[in-house]
Amino acid sequence: MNKPIGLLSTIVSVAVLCGFAAAPARAADDVASKAEVCSACHGQNGTPVNTVTPIIWGQQSNYLYKELHDFHSGARVNATMSPLVKDIALPDLRQLADYFAAKTWPAAPAANAAAVPPDAIAGKIEMCKACHQAHFEGGAPAPRLAGLSYEYLLSAMNNFADGERTNNLDMPGFMKALSESDRETIAKYLAGL
Ligand code: HEC
Ligand code: HEC
Repeated sequence: MNKPIGLLSTIVSVAVLCGFAAAPARAADDVASKAEVCSACHGQNGTPVNTVTPIIWGQQSNYLYKELHDFHSGARVNATMSPLVKDIALPDLRQLADYFAAKTWPAAPAANAAAVPPDAIAGKIEMCKACHQAHFEGGAPAPRLAGLSYEYLLSAMNNFADGERTNNLDMPGFMKALSESDRETIAKYLAGL
């Protein structure tokens, strides 16, 4: 009477043990292989292939997920990103966000280090720090801005200002309140951080 049950439970435990051993390795492989397509543009080492593509290595995880969610749902529209993530399920997008957020922000290329005289930005960036943090390192849910490229920062700021990017309630108003030359100066400053 005891024997078959004993055997059965042995088989079950072996199956469970194998399952536990194999599952995390498979999950890690899965996300790494899904991330390969992203690296073609966002960079194999975290440095994007061009300056219109933002750094996602080491970016805030909640922010990355929100943007992937928004590209997926259509709340943020981009000709490159929208079709890429339209058919990826939300839990997979969450995994990708965590995967890239856990990596290290790449070192800035020397070209980013354009010096902006402190009085050129005085009084214009203090309010940003309430959300983007003291050194623009970001914090949930506001993204890191320090060290993104000048081109990407300016285009993101202009997209909010001209109503093209509407997936946040506050940013469009903040960006409209700045002159175009202020946006250029701030983008230059943030790229050099
Ligand atoms: C063909 C090039 C390309 C590929 C492949 C690609 N991206 Fe992008 N990605 C871009 C560009 C360009 C932007 C900037 C869009 C914009 O200007 O609004 C972007 C923006 C993003 C953003 C928003 C970042 C921010 O700071 O707002 C996230 C997150 C992102 N991509 C994640 C991914 C992930 C994850 C993958 C893989 C599933 C991926 N991308 C594949 C080119 C690419
Ligand atoms: C009330 C909080 C808040 C303040 C203040 C604020 N931001 Fe933001 N900002 C956000 C959030 C949240 C996002 C992400 C929006 C989204 O969901 O796409 C964002 C996005 C951005 C982006 C796009 C980043 C990317 O990777 O695409 C830029 C650039 C930016 N902010 C610049 C600024 C600047 C410059 C200031 C000050 C003049 C400022 N922000 C003030 C909360 C804020």
